[in-house]
Amino acid sequence: MPVTIVAPAVLRAGEPPAFPGHRLSLAGPVCYLQSTLRLMTNKANAPAATSAAGLRGVFAASSSISDVNGERGELIYQGYNIHDLAKHSTFEEVIFLLWNKRLPTRSELSELEQSLRASYEVPGELIALMKQFPHEADPIDELRTAISALEFYDPNARDLSRESSVKTAIKLTAQFPTIVAASDRIRRGLDPVAPDGSLNIATNFLYMLKGEKPSEHDAHIFDICLVLHADHELNASTFTARVVAGTLADMYAAVTAAIGALSGPLHGGANTNVMKMLLEIGDLENVEPYIKKALAEKRKIMGFGHAVYKTEDPRATHLREFSKQAGESAGDSKWYEMSRKVEEVIFREKGLYPNVDFFSASTYYMMGIPLDLYTPIFAISRISGWTGHILEQYSDNKLIRPRAEYIGQRDVPYVPIDQRS
Ligand code: COA
Repeated sequence: MPVTIVAPAVLRAGEPPAFPGHRLSLAGPVCYLQSTLRLMTNKANAPAATSAAGLRGVFAASSSISDVNGERGELIYQGYNIHDLAKHSTFEEVIFLLWNKRLPTRSELSELEQSLRASYEVPGELIALMKQFPHEADPIDELRTAISALEFYDPNARDLSRESSVKTAIKLTAQFPTIVAASDRIRRGLDPVAPDGSLNIATNFLYMLKGEKPSEHDAHIFDICLVLHADHELNASTFTARVVAGTLADMYAAVTAAIGALSGPLHGGANTNVMKMLLEIGDLENVEPYIKKALAEKRKIMGFGHAVYKTEDPRATHLREFSKQAGESAGDSKWYEMSRKVEEVIFREKGLYPNVDFFSASTYYMMGIPLDLYTPIFAISRISGWTGHILEQYSDNKLIRPRAEYIGQRDVPYVPIDQRS
């Protein structure tokens, strides 16, 4: 019999379930509920129910890939603290970690790097197709459409075995940067720059974008930005990817859907809007009146607040420093200083902390990256996490099919069209 699960009080992020025995498998999602569980039949006379709005605090999948502790401001990938990975690791090493649950040996890392580099190039047909896209198209939408089309050129796309899926994951992770850089150059009337298989993902992307090798400093900062954005537990786009993979649709379909979810301003779309806001504010003196007015008008300030973190997002700690360094190395700290002022005013007025998107905006701006590429850059990193979650979903699949709490009418008599007022 179908049941609706009602959580009168939802679990706070980071808390262990109060009653671990109460683990209900509901067509895929697993819900741990903090307090009394009420199971009720889905009948008209059932008691009024309160669902967890936006599924906050509901565990909807089991995963070892990453975990967020919102109270402590902690993020781990496969058990490793993000601060250690940001300090010591590389994006390629993190990709291996997310897909394989452990850090690679030197030879395993080298093998993965070789496979990724050998896959940088995209089919010529895809570049020809991208040249047909309208030049004013948003690059995140171009990426979504290109990834959907890329499936046509992979004869093994429907093979969902681990071996074949890892190959697809390598291909997707290697080709996201090529597609994003090519789409930017095409709209500027330039020829795409062929990928350089001697470079890592971060350096190769900046090279393909600008047509010249980036400084070591920029390439290093960018690499760590990719490490920081690689995975974030069951965020909206990752959940989307798992839902699609749960139907046993192929990896391209799951990733295409995930890009759609990422594009929204409440998710990955926030970073571009942060920079638009900073440009609109214009100078340091205008920060305080601008933010106060925006808050008085109940406008959301992009790059602040988080569904899980109740303290500083640990990724923002690194990005704040990168924004500072990027400003210093370009001899222009204006955007960093304005960002610090925005941070101060919002904390004073609302008690909100910056999230991953806030300082990444001024960091990328100082690196000369066009504003509307910030969200595709998020995707260049997050593809590693999406594919990790899709591999995990395929390995122990259950169709994800929750229930809706029906709030409409029942037993409504059908009125023929001519008799309706
Ligand atoms: N600016 C101003 N107020 C904000 C805010 C922001 N960025 N984020 C949250 N708030 C306020 C809300 O207005 C609300 O206040 P109220 O209770 O007085 O109405 C309260 O904080 C709770 O907000 P809510 O949107 O319900 O919290 P959430 O957990 O659902 O939201 C986000 C999480 C990320 C959607 C939200 O913080 C947001 O929209 N941030 C801006 C977009 C962004 O940066 N997204 C990237 C996330 S990594």
